[in-house]
Amino acid sequence: MSGYSAITGWGMSVPEKILTNADLERMVETSDEWITSRTGIKERHVAGPGESASTLSIAAARQALARAGIEGKDLGLIIVATVCADYPFPSTGNLVQHALGAQCPAFDMQAACSGFLYGLSTAHQFLANGSMKHILVIGVEVLSRVIDYTDRTTCVLFGDGAGAVVLSASDEPGGVLGFTMGSDGARPDLLWIPIGGSAEPVTEEGLRAHRQYVQMQGGEVFKFATRIMGTAMEEALDHAGMTAADMDLFIPHQANLRIIESASKRLNLPPEKVFVNIEKYGNTSAAAIPIALCEAIEQGRVYPGAHIGMVAFGAGLTWAAAVVKWTAPLRTREKVRDALPATAAIGS
Ligand code: ACO
Repeated sequence: MSGYSAITGWGMSVPEKILTNADLERMVETSDEWITSRTGIKERHVAGPGESASTLSIAAARQALARAGIEGKDLGLIIVATVCADYPFPSTGNLVQHALGAQCPAFDMQAACSGFLYGLSTAHQFLANGSMKHILVIGVEVLSRVIDYTDRTTCVLFGDGAGAVVLSASDEPGGVLGFTMGSDGARPDLLWIPIGGSAEPVTEEGLRAHRQYVQMQGGEVFKFATRIMGTAMEEALDHAGMTAADMDLFIPHQANLRIIESASKRLNLPPEKVFVNIEKYGNTSAAAIPIALCEAIEQGRVYPGAHIGMVAFGAGLTWAAAVVKWTAPLRTREKVRDALPATAAIGS
C-alpha cells in the first residue's frame, strides 16, 4: 500500500535563559554590530542546570502529541535528530519514549543541522508504505554544552532548543510530497568536535587544546551552504513535480541571514515567502526547522493547502530538503494548553 503522510502535531521548547549579543560582548572580543551584520543573530537561548536534549525534547513532544490528539502509546516510532544526545548511549530517543509512555522503537539520527529533514523523510517511508500510523520526529540541540565560549568565531552562532512534529499516515494527498538528502564526508574537519569519539578519545592534552568543543572553518562552510541550499531545494521540488514559484512558504535552516538571503535570491522568492527567526534563536542546528515551523504556524503563515519548502545543510557535510503540503487542521494554542499537563510549557 502506498499512501500519504500529514503533519498532525507540532511543538517547540527552548530554555528560559537568553544569551544576548551584549552578553557575548562581555565574554569575547566581539560586538553586537559584527554579529548582527555578519549573521543576523541578536540573541540565543542556552540551557540551564537540569536541562538537556531529553528534557527539551519531551516538552516539545508533549505539545505535538496534544495537537495531534494522540498519546505516547499511539506512536509507532520515535526519531530524535541531534548531535547533542544526553549520553553517548543510550539514545535520547529511548529516554523520550519512556517519558511519553510510548511502547515503540526509538532511535537517534545524526545528520547535524540536516537531521530533522533526514528524520522527516525517513518517517514518511514507514507511513507511506502503511507499516505505521503515527511517528514522532524531534530535532533537538543543546550546543551550549559543546561550544567554546572563549572562541568568538563559533560561540556567537549557536543556541539551544527543540522542535517536534507528529507525522501521521493519511489517505488525503499531501504531507511529504518530495525530498532529497545528501552527504559529502570528504572533509569532516570543516565542522566537527575532534575528540570524544572512537577516533580520538578524550585526553588531558586534547582538553587543554579545547578539542572537545565545536571547531569550524566558517568560510568554507559558508561557501558550501550558499551552493547547496538552492540546489537541494530545487531537487526536492522537482521530485514533487513543483518549482520554487509553487512554494507558499520557504523555511530554510537558520544558520546565517546572509546564507538565507542568498538561497532565497537563487530561488527567486520574495521576502514575504521566506521565514526567518534567526535573530531570536541563533543556529539551533537540527532544531532550527521544526522551531521555525512552529512559529510560522503560530503567526498564521501556514494554512491548509499551503506548500512549504524546507532545506538544511550541516556538519558532515550533509544536506536535506523536503516539500510538505499542509493538510491537517490547525489547532489553536488555547486548545493545546487545555490538553497539556500543567508542567509542559507551550513554546515561546
Ligand atoms: N566578532 C568579531 N569579529 C569576528 C568574530 C566575532 N564573533 N568572528 C570572527 N571575527 C573576525 C575574524 O577573526 C576575521 O578577522 P580578520 O579579518 O582580522 O582575520 C573577520 O572577523 C572576518 O572573519 P570571517 O570568518 O571572514 O567572517 P565571515 O564574514 O565569513 O563570517 C561566519 C563568519 C559568520 C562564521 C560565516 O563564515 C558563516 O556563517 N559561516 C557558516 C557557518 C555555519 O553556518 N555553520 C553552521 C553549519 S550547520 C551545523 O551543522 C551546526
